[in-house]
Amino acid sequence: MKTLHKIIIWLTYSSPVLFLPLFFLNISERRDYGKLAGTLALILFIITLIPSMIRRFGLAKEFNLLIKLILPVRRQFGILMFVAAFTHYLAMKVIPTLQFSLPPSLPPYQAFGLVALIFSFALFITSNNWATRKLKSNWKRLHRLTYVIGWLIFGHVLLGGLRSESEISLQAIVIGVVMVLEVASLIKARVNVLG
Ligand code: HEM
Repeated sequence: MKTLHKIIIWLTYSSPVLFLPLFFLNISERRDYGKLAGTLALILFIITLIPSMIRRFGLAKEFNLLIKLILPVRRQFGILMFVAAFTHYLAMKVIPTLQFSLPPSLPPYQAFGLVALIFSFALFITSNNWATRKLKSNWKRLHRLTYVIGWLIFGHVLLGGLRSESEISLQAIVIGVVMVLEVASLIKARVNVLG
């Protein structure tokens, strides 16, 4: 388990290599790579939600191994998520806009994505011990943005998929189901506290 955690920490330090392909891929390869980075960001985001969700459902014993695997490096998964999402943003929006001198635009599905990215940035820069100490109880409050980010990503992939393929994408279904479970787990935890 420790080796796995070390690998994830090492991957976090080397995550800026994700930007490198952006320099030499052609237009269609860059689009595919950008989509892949978006899906990677979505998966990493879901991973960060899993431990707390399992605990709130009272299933910590059953999924003990999964919790032990994720929890010590949850912060690293969050950092990796932001780097992947930013790579996605560069590939899908920033580089094409600059390369083809496109006029500025922000269709609703991209606005959802952009707000999710900005909120993720707030979590990214506060994902360190110094920020945790400085922000004290505000740190927890700030990191509740995670729930908003989840729904924004859902809106982004749902509307993006409907726009380009006229169908609900697999990514939208996955994040939609995860966010419904997230809400259910929060309700369950609240009911347990009150009852
Ligand atoms: C947390 C931030 C974000 C996440 C997790 C995310 C995730 C995703 C995912 C999973 C897809 C579907 C990929 C596929 O079809 O294979 C996607 C599509 C896309 N995203 Fe994002 N995204 C984010 C932010 C942004 C931002 C800020 C922009 C631009 C302003 C953007 C632009 C796009 C575009 C252009 C597509 C392609 C839509 C299509 O034509 O199907 N994304 N995103």
